[in-house]
Amino acid sequence: MRYDAIVIGAGPGGYATAIRIAQKGKKVLVAEKDRVGGECLNYGCIPSKALIELANSIAYLRDMPGMKLDLSPDFEEWQKWKWSMVNKLTGGVETLFKAYGVELRKGSATILDRNTVRIGENELECENLVIATGSVPATIAGFGDVWYNRDILDFKKVPESLVIIGGGYIGIELGTAFSKLGSKVTVVEMMDSILPGVDRDLVSPVERKLKSLGVEVKTSARVKEVTRQGTFTVKLEDGTELNAENVLLTVGRRPNTEGFGLENLKLEMNGRFIKTDSRKATSVQGVYAVGDVSGEPMLAHKAYYDADVAADNICGEERHVEYKAMPFVIYSDPEISYTGTKGEKVSVFPVAANGRSLGMNNSVGTYRVYYDSSGYITGAGLVAPHSSEMISEVSLAVEAGLMGMDLGLTIHPHPTISEGLREAAEASYGKALHFKSGR
Ligand code: NAI
Repeated sequence: MRYDAIVIGAGPGGYATAIRIAQKGKKVLVAEKDRVGGECLNYGCIPSKALIELANSIAYLRDMPGMKLDLSPDFEEWQKWKWSMVNKLTGGVETLFKAYGVELRKGSATILDRNTVRIGENELECENLVIATGSVPATIAGFGDVWYNRDILDFKKVPESLVIIGGGYIGIELGTAFSKLGSKVTVVEMMDSILPGVDRDLVSPVERKLKSLGVEVKTSARVKEVTRQGTFTVKLEDGTELNAENVLLTVGRRPNTEGFGLENLKLEMNGRFIKTDSRKATSVQGVYAVGDVSGEPMLAHKAYYDADVAADNICGEERHVEYKAMPFVIYSDPEISYTGTKGEKVSVFPVAANGRSLGMNNSVGTYRVYYDSSGYITGAGLVAPHSSEMISEVSLAVEAGLMGMDLGLTIHPHPTISEGLREAAEASYGKALHFKSGR
């Protein structure tokens, strides 16, 4: 039997491609050597956000004047809950596979040629092949048995002290969470700022918050050596020595292109990534690549989007990716969310003037909406509680070609954090109600 498509990898990119193809009535098989749901559902996005939510809730009560918190967390129990929650989610994906007739084959797939994949003893034939093998954490040789994202998210006890090497997405998100849970956290970042590549205006409120939490951030700092004798010693190039119960290494991820016969296809590469065109097609006819393995940004929602586009093309409906309103979210405190581009003009509203945020004991952050010279919204950068839930309003504004007035004249419910976004937009053509100036 010849499949219309075989998908390798059942993370967000792979499982979404498989379901989309099956929804169009085609015969599709997906191969997965580990757990359905990939890094994101099992060991990344979902469990890390569950942990961050817990840490935020604890810190919220602890920091609220007048509250006395007497908690005795049992993280073994919490881990059981976490895995049961993750299993519900991944079980849901497997149920969808069954409902749409996607064939799931557990096992390690090897590509023999563009139409043939071996899984275990079987050689399977396909019309189209989709590579959705994701990414793996970057490692540094000689750094010993440090924690990576999977290890830290399976913790059973909060470490008294934690050194995090890498002040990127994972370092800042988990550093904040473990600090709130009681660890003494030190973040070591080799660049001159944490979250390199993210606009400074968005990062500085988060830096202030990290400071107030007692997180020590060492920038322009390079790690020379990590040794362990019971506890860890992290030696920096300037001679500083940091001691910690645990070390988390989170210095980026690299595309997973090894160990599954990719070399047999002789695909064109783009650095370490598989090169694709805007249809998510590779240089070899009938072979597609989606998600982390096919290029930056390595984000699950980009993988879902790639999956839609690849599936349409495989099913004969030509479609192209257009990443112009790609949202980015960092689950820091407050959350940083941005989308689109900076444009030529900006209008700003402070979180300190938003009633809902104040009621949540948070006055840190800003709403920044960006416009082109004609006043069309080009993007936004939001540093505010739950900004992850607001940023899509701006992506929609960019996609729909809206102006500041379109957002500003739209009634937003009161009291909400999203009202601040409306007021920032209002400031682009007049005055925000709750803030003077704003232009
Ligand atoms: P990252 O690329 O975000 O950050 C890595 C950091 O490590 C950078 O700041 C880099 O300058 C620093 N670094 C690199 N080598 C170093 C060294 N030797 N010493 C000190 N610092 C060093 O990577 P991260 O945090 O590991 O996350 C991996 C991926 O997962 C990212 O691509 C991100 O897109 C994704 N992710 C996304 C999340 C979200 O969307 N909220 C959450 C977590 C991860």
